[in-house]
Amino acid sequence: MSELNLILLGPPGAGKGTQAERLQEDFPLLYLATGNILRAAVAEETELGRKAKEYMSRGELVPDDVIIGVILDQLRDEEASDGFLLDGFPRTVGQAEALDEALQDFGRTLTAVLLIDTPDDEVVRRISGRRVSVKTGRVYHVDFDPPKHEGVCDVDGSRLIQREDDSEETVRKRLAVYHEQTAPLIGFYEKQGLLKRFDGRRPPNEVHDHIRATLATLRLEEQI
Ligand code: AP5
Repeated sequence: MSELNLILLGPPGAGKGTQAERLQEDFPLLYLATGNILRAAVAEETELGRKAKEYMSRGELVPDDVIIGVILDQLRDEEASDGFLLDGFPRTVGQAEALDEALQDFGRTLTAVLLIDTPDDEVVRRISGRRVSVKTGRVYHVDFDPPKHEGVCDVDGSRLIQREDDSEETVRKRLAVYHEQTAPLIGFYEKQGLLKRFDGRRPPNEVHDHIRATLATLRLEEQI
């Protein structure tokens, strides 16, 4: 397979970031996580951050015209030439169409869209226990994936915090937004024959093994 161009799709808290971390250890892919990019922009008080802040704290999507250019610019970059892993983008049909158009212009195609299917109740349980390192962005869960020392990142000892949009009320709102605006992408990519489903209720390492096996099969199919 010449390059791996992957999208991680799924509701908030499905484990997209968790799997992205593992996939980056397997493959040298440019990783673009729109949530991380936007949170950094908010923290740095850039123009992008100012535009995104209110939407994010309400659990709504930032408008397509704010986010699409940010991602497409990075995909145009040399760094993306060996493949990319998109986490949190596209999130609307408008974003998916813009991505398709841009990839066509670049003469590139998507390899697969990895859907991590996780029920709403499980999402709420997970997000309420999620903790994130302020420096590395490494994600933990107080019960399912705890750090070695409470409140401290294993990688560099930085402080672990709870994300501002991880309150139960905002999570319920983010789930409603997912079902209304992002879930239609499942059919969109199914029609293109790109969708691969994974049971997000399984433990992180099992989900990872399953994704790796699927990508290995895709590689074998390409060689036939
Ligand atoms: P974003 O940061 O992308 O949030 P999200 O999609 O809601 O996803 P999360 O980061 O909450 O969850 P995840 O699936 O990565 O799960 P994780 O691995 O952390 O977006 C935030 C906001 O930015 C949006 O609301 C929107 O406002 C804006 N935005 C972003 N992209 C946008 C776009 N394209 N357009 C418009 N607006 C955009 O796992 C969750 C927890 O569960 C962790 O604690 C983890 O340890 C645990 N866990 C993971 N996997 C498992 C497992 N298999 N079993 C048990 N526990 C697990």
